[in-house]
Amino acid sequence: MVPGSNTLLRYQKLVDELNAHNHRYHSLDAPVVSDAEYDRLMLELQEIELEYPELRNEDSPTQRVGSLPLSQFSQVTHELPMRSLSNGFSDEDIENFDKRLHKQLELDESQIFDYVAEPKLDGLAVSIFYEEGRLKHAATRGDGKVGEDVTENVRTIRSIPLSLPSGAPRRLEVRGEVFMSHAGFAKLNQDQEEKDKKAFVNPRNAAAGSLRQLDSRLTAQRPLSIFIYAVGVIDDPDFSSSHFEMLQRLKQFGFPVCPIIEQVRGASGCLGYFSKLSELRAKLDYEIDGIVYKLDDLALQQQAGFIAKAPRWALAHKFPAQELTTTVNEIDVQVGRTGAITPVARLEPVFVGGVTVSNVTLHNHSEIQRLGVRVGDTVVVRRAGDVIPQIVSVVEEKRQSNSIAYDFPTECPVCSSVIAVEGDGVIARCTGGLICAAQRKQAIKHFVSRKAMDIDGMGDRIVDMLVDQKMIANVADIYKLDQEQILQLEGFAEKSSEKLLASINASKQTELARLLYALGISQVGETTAEQLATSFGSIDAVIGSNVETLEALPDIGPIVANAIVGFFADQNNLAVIESLFDLGVSYTPVSVVYKDDQDLPLVGKIFVLTGSLDSMARGEAKKQLQALGAKVTGSVSKNTSFVVVGHDAGSKAVKAATLNVPTLDEAALLAILES
Ligand code: IVH
Repeated sequence: MVPGSNTLLRYQKLVDELNAHNHRYHSLDAPVVSDAEYDRLMLELQEIELEYPELRNEDSPTQRVGSLPLSQFSQVTHELPMRSLSNGFSDEDIENFDKRLHKQLELDESQIFDYVAEPKLDGLAVSIFYEEGRLKHAATRGDGKVGEDVTENVRTIRSIPLSLPSGAPRRLEVRGEVFMSHAGFAKLNQDQEEKDKKAFVNPRNAAAGSLRQLDSRLTAQRPLSIFIYAVGVIDDPDFSSSHFEMLQRLKQFGFPVCPIIEQVRGASGCLGYFSKLSELRAKLDYEIDGIVYKLDDLALQQQAGFIAKAPRWALAHKFPAQELTTTVNEIDVQVGRTGAITPVARLEPVFVGGVTVSNVTLHNHSEIQRLGVRVGDTVVVRRAGDVIPQIVSVVEEKRQSNSIAYDFPTECPVCSSVIAVEGDGVIARCTGGLICAAQRKQAIKHFVSRKAMDIDGMGDRIVDMLVDQKMIANVADIYKLDQEQILQLEGFAEKSSEKLLASINASKQTELARLLYALGISQVGETTAEQLATSFGSIDAVIGSNVETLEALPDIGPIVANAIVGFFADQNNLAVIESLFDLGVSYTPVSVVYKDDQDLPLVGKIFVLTGSLDSMARGEAKKQLQALGAKVTGSVSKNTSFVVVGHDAGSKAVKAATLNVPTLDEAALLAILES
């Protein structure tokens, strides 16, 4: 069949693109696409060549392992080519590989093959040559035929033996993968940061950059590792009869061999190892991107031979891609319950790490600046395991020439109120408060949610409709709804409206902790709400509290205390709470754990602890003081009764002096506690 002109064009484009990617990846250590994207292009090219074999020539990327080496290193021609591996992605691919091998070797499938299953290390391949037991030279893979001479660099890798024990073959070439461990990578990037140098993007790039240093003294300072997984040239025909045995012998000669390699039986054994390693992967200290299965019997390997660039007797079973490139279609901002503005990138959907990702949070303005991301950009998206997907980097080479930098909005997209930037610029907030429909909706959705007032049947869609149709503007309005109104909402009939009214009604009788949580006070989650309920016993007592009384409670610090006081200082909030009670909301009485009127010696006294104590931790002193009825707060004010000053006390001791608050040393504190 003759290919059409569209196919020809596509074919040439793929060849050019893959050649360019090869060069960037193998020679420049500067890839602009993820491995998975590369694999996808390669697969497409292979498919075209399968259909139109006449298109394939020696220059096709499918016929080449890598790209030409840089000219600075001297070139080394491999005595035996360094080949690549064919890839498999599904269980079926592995079963077919096993079947194919049986066919090629003319063996019945009832004869189950032994395979060696090895992690596919994500580093770079090297060949190391020994003669008369001494390391003679080492080379990168290069394009598979010609590599770069990296002898001096490889010599610096501590785990590589420079000489071999007697009994080693006279000429021996071992091949393996140079990589950087996660620990080494983290340490290296920390060093880079301290030296004000650019951080490496990932361990593979760091390993490649480190090995391909013209100055090997620099390489020596980099934490490179290696695992040996094959032999090339060997002048001992009886060295071993199986791949596994060969690895054991190499280990005996002092070569580092990956410790979790296993012998498995048949395709099912391979798949068993694959799922085991899929679990283990996150715990390994090095990156692996799949499993390599190799036919164990070396005689059978030889019989199976090679096809184009790869052996027939081995297969790389790749893990689903954890990183892929896609484009940013839009950057939107979302408005949260408390007005917090979160930018979100809307992506061209990609299947990455086992799920389809179309939205990723950009967290805040500084994250957008750090990434330098713009609408229209090509970005690398990563999702590993259960981790939330994120944008790792922008592929700047692919940026459109007419692209413009992202402008963070200064007005709320929902209510047009001004967006205020708090603190160090990380938090941006809509200042519209309950004027903002987005905040109103979020606040109401939170109020009705299961852990709050638990209004069954009042889902997000219904809240959106109620707010959009102006039937409710705040949480109290929920209790003013009547059946006539609900019937106007899309999807409601007699029965369903009655049901919703019944659950609204049922929610009126609640608990204090739920009600406090439902109000949506910033910083107040379920635990703090529970704490407030059991400490104060009534909503009026909470409303009447102040920063000091709040801070005296265990686990409440100044930020939470100020958020609570700030919430109840707002007249709108108080009005809504009053309406709630007017409309019939009530809570079951709470028995209070801490009471102000307890008959304890330190009731009414407010302590501040600063510096460290010899006899106990500050937390322990706080507990003992509280047990005696005292309140213990974190900041000194004129209302503070005593400041306990331990060793190395800081500004609080100074503040006590300026405010004339009496101070106690540790001995005085102990005297009080013991009295
Ligand atoms: S064997 C003829 N074993 O994967 C087969 N390769 O895609 C030679 N790799 O160039 C390769 N871990 O850089 C083999 N356990 C392993 C491997 C492994 C990683 C790399 C190696 C090779 C590439 C092929």
